[in-house]
This record gives sequence, C-alpha cells and structure tokens, in this order.
Amino acid sequence: MATELTWLGHGGWSIRAGEHRLLLDPFLDECPTACCKADDVEADVILVSHGHFDHIADVVKIAQRTGATVIANHEISLWLGKQGVENTIGMNLGGGLQQPFGHVKMTLAHHSSQLPDGSDGGNPGGFLLTLADGKVYFACDTALFEDMRRIGSVGLDLAVLPIGDLFTMGSEDSIEAVKLLTPKRVVPAHYNTWPPIAQDAGVWADLVRAETESEPVVLKPGEKISL
Ligand code: NI
Ligand code: MN
Repeated sequence: MATELTWLGHGGWSIRAGEHRLLLDPFLDECPTACCKADDVEADVILVSHGHFDHIADVVKIAQRTGATVIANHEISLWLGKQGVENTIGMNLGGGLQQPFGHVKMTLAHHSSQLPDGSDGGNPGGFLLTLADGKVYFACDTALFEDMRRIGSVGLDLAVLPIGDLFTMGSEDSIEAVKLLTPKRVVPAHYNTWPPIAQDAGVWADLVRAETESEPVVLKPGEKISL
C-alpha cells in the first residue's frame, strides 16, 4: 500500500505508512480550517515540531486516548511527560532515530518554540522522514535558510513548506526554498487558517511551475497525496 499523507489543515498531517499511523503537529479542535476533530484521528506516533499552541494544542488528549508515542525535542518531550503523556521520545536538532515506520531526522528551523503555559519549548525543528516509499521533508514553521540546500541533497520525493508569511516564510521565500530543496513535488501548508496568513495557493503553484523544476500539489484540508 502506498504511503498516504493527508493534510489536516494548518500545519497538521496524518501519515499512513504501511500499518503505521503518524500525526504531525495535529491542531484540530480550535483550528478553523481543520478537516476533523482531535477525537477522530488515529495515531501510534505523533511528531511535534515546536511548542506553539497551533502545533501542540491537541497532542496531550490525542496521545492519552491513543497511547501514541510522541516524538519531539528534549524540552517538549519532558513537558508532555508532565502533562500526563506516557510515551515520549526526546531528540534534538540534527539527531536521527530509526523507528518501525522509518527514519526520523530533526532538522533546523528558524522560528521560536515557547509552550502554551510559557515554558521553554527548546529549539523549533522540522522533520526529514525516510519512509518505505520515499523521503519527505516537513519544514514546519521556519524562515527560509540556505542550509535547505543540504537537506535537499538527500533527494526529496516531497517537501511540505509553509507559505502563510507573517509567522513563517511566505510564498516568495518558499519559491527560493523549493530551489534549494529541489523536491520532486512540493505541497504548501500553514496558510489560510486565519486572515493574517491568507495566501493564494493557485498563484503560488504558478510561481513554482514557472521558476522551479518541482511539481506543486495544492491540497484542501482532508485531501491526501500518495508517495
Ligand atoms: Ni510556530
Ligand atoms: Mn505555527
């Protein structure tokens, strides 16, 4: 069965890799564009990129209901443990971890990571996943940075980039990111959740086609892409 990635809206993803169900940055119950609620999703692993509420708000309740293992940076893994999440794995930037579904590497992100109660959420990150069907890079919340060239050098089947601007890179910088990453396909995320991060994904897709070799794929919340 092909690996399927479903955009949940905002920065949230559900990934089916073989028999494994992964969630990345699920933000559902208070997200105006989410395709489902926190009670509707299944997971055996939850990846958390950083501590902001729009990435972590539903993690504790989903982890407690499903028993999923949460993979996050060291500080967030300790914080989640204190919130009552039983299974956590802490890692840090540049670190890799082999799991039954594939390999996880935590990549740089230029952003911030304060947790909802004001605790220190460590450094924000992105994720490079090596799955049975290909390599996927989730930039998560970040500015454009030149080292994306190095992340892309492994040969990416898919990159997921924020385009919302204001809190992360916007459309224009995401085009530069595509040029550095050179993924086969690229999907936009972290936009249109609220008016301050409104973007026209059709215009963005035209720019990707005009200026890069990558194929843009624009999803609506609830739609999926296969590797
Ligand atoms: Ni953020
Ligand atoms: Mn965010």
